[in-house]
Parts: sequence; C-alpha cells; structure tokens
Amino acid sequence: MIYHILAVGDVVGEQGVKHLERHLRSFKKLRDIHFTVVNGENASNVGIMPDQVEQLYSAGADVVTLGNHTFGKQQIVSRLEDDPYLLRPANYTGRAPGRGYGIFDCGHIQIGVMNLIGRCGLDFNADNPFTTADRLLKGEKALFTLVDFHAEATSEKLAMGYYLDGRVSAVWGTHTHVPTADEQIFPKGTGYISDLGMTGPIRSVLGIRPEQSIEGFLGGLPGRYQTADGACKMQGVIFDLDSSTGLCVGAERVDIR
Ligand code: FE2
Repeated sequence: MIYHILAVGDVVGEQGVKHLERHLRSFKKLRDIHFTVVNGENASNVGIMPDQVEQLYSAGADVVTLGNHTFGKQQIVSRLEDDPYLLRPANYTGRAPGRGYGIFDCGHIQIGVMNLIGRCGLDFNADNPFTTADRLLKGEKALFTLVDFHAEATSEKLAMGYYLDGRVSAVWGTHTHVPTADEQIFPKGTGYISDLGMTGPIRSVLGIRPEQSIEGFLGGLPGRYQTADGACKMQGVIFDLDSSTGLCVGAERVDIR
C-alpha cells in the first residue's frame, strides 16, 4: 500500500495558523493524506504558545516539529515535557526539556518522526545531527521514518539526505522558508527536499513585514517581528511511501493559496 505523508513548511504568525486552519483538513481529504507533520516554531513568529500547538492539531497536524526558536516562548516548556506529539530538535543537549523523536500510530502501521537542527550558521551548541540520527536509528524503528532537518545550509541538508538515504523514508529541510525545486528520490529510496517553504503571508520577507526586514538590513532597529498582512500560502511536500519497503516512491511540492 502507498501512504501519503504531508510535510508542511514553517507556519508563521497568527495569519499562518489561520490559513492552515482554513485549508489543511480539506486538502488532506482531497489528496488522501494519511499523516501530517507541521513545523510550528514560528507560530508566534519567534516560538510557539501552547494554545497554538492545539490550533495546529485541530487544523489537522498529527505531529508538530520545532527548531531554533523552540524556546522563544518560555510557556512551551512544560508542554514539551508532557506532549509526545510536539518535538524539538533531538540533537539539543541533554539538559533541554522535551524530546526529538517519537513513534506514532497511523492506522495499521507506525511512523517515526525525528526533528534535528543544523549547526552550519544556525546552532553551534547542538550535538552533531548526523551522529544523533545514527543513535536514534539504532533504537526502536517504525515502518516509516520521517526527518525534519531544521537547518540553514543547503549543503548540510543535502549531506544529511544522502547520509540517511535508504535508512529513512523521507528527509525534508525547514527553517529557510523558501521552497527549493529539488524534491527527489535518492538512489537508495529516501524522499528528499532541501526546504519545504512556509505557511503564511505571500508578500513578506520569510513571513515578516518587508519594511521591517529592510529597516534591519539598513542598520536600523527592526523592533519585534510583525507578521505581514495579506493573502497567505501553505507550502509543503507530499511524500508517497511504500509499505512493502518503507521507502519513498514519489515526492510532490504543493502550494495552497
Ligand atoms: Fe527556524
């Protein structure tokens, strides 16, 4: 059987959350999606609040992944400890609350989801994401394993894809908010894309008001991030996974406006 897995790019601000609430359920029905992973670390622009995690679940997310802004909102800390469906990067050091890997039921099968953070230009204090993936894959494994690699450098993301090729079902990049046109299936059967894109305002700099971003680059004080106004998009990738192999047979970019 072929399972359709939807990976949704970083949800930005209340506008992004609302767009997801408006479109995700109907899209899942339309495309017969069995399991959905949503990156939510920008739901409050910098971080996510507990009630927004609930909003993402009611919108249709099965698992919510995070990234460099995991602890942007301190209110999320206890939720990270209590909620197995909310993942933060697994290669955070041992002192960080929460978990970065989980195995979840999906009908008759199980799906493992791993969240990792990159170190190139992003998080220099994190443990090595490559060896962290090795360690986690040595433990209990599900039929399918999905990896959200929250990273800045396309080199680090591609290297991770090739490193895990044939050992996991799909690897996708998040964090840069701009979708890449390199969705593909690697030689040993792992589905891959360097970045999913984002869920939030179309006319924006990565979801933020353009004027505010420009002010920052001019050397001024950009102030607290404000989500841009206007129409939104929901970007991601559908990975078609084959239950007879645990590997990927199709990858399609989607952009719902
Ligand atoms: Fe990020």
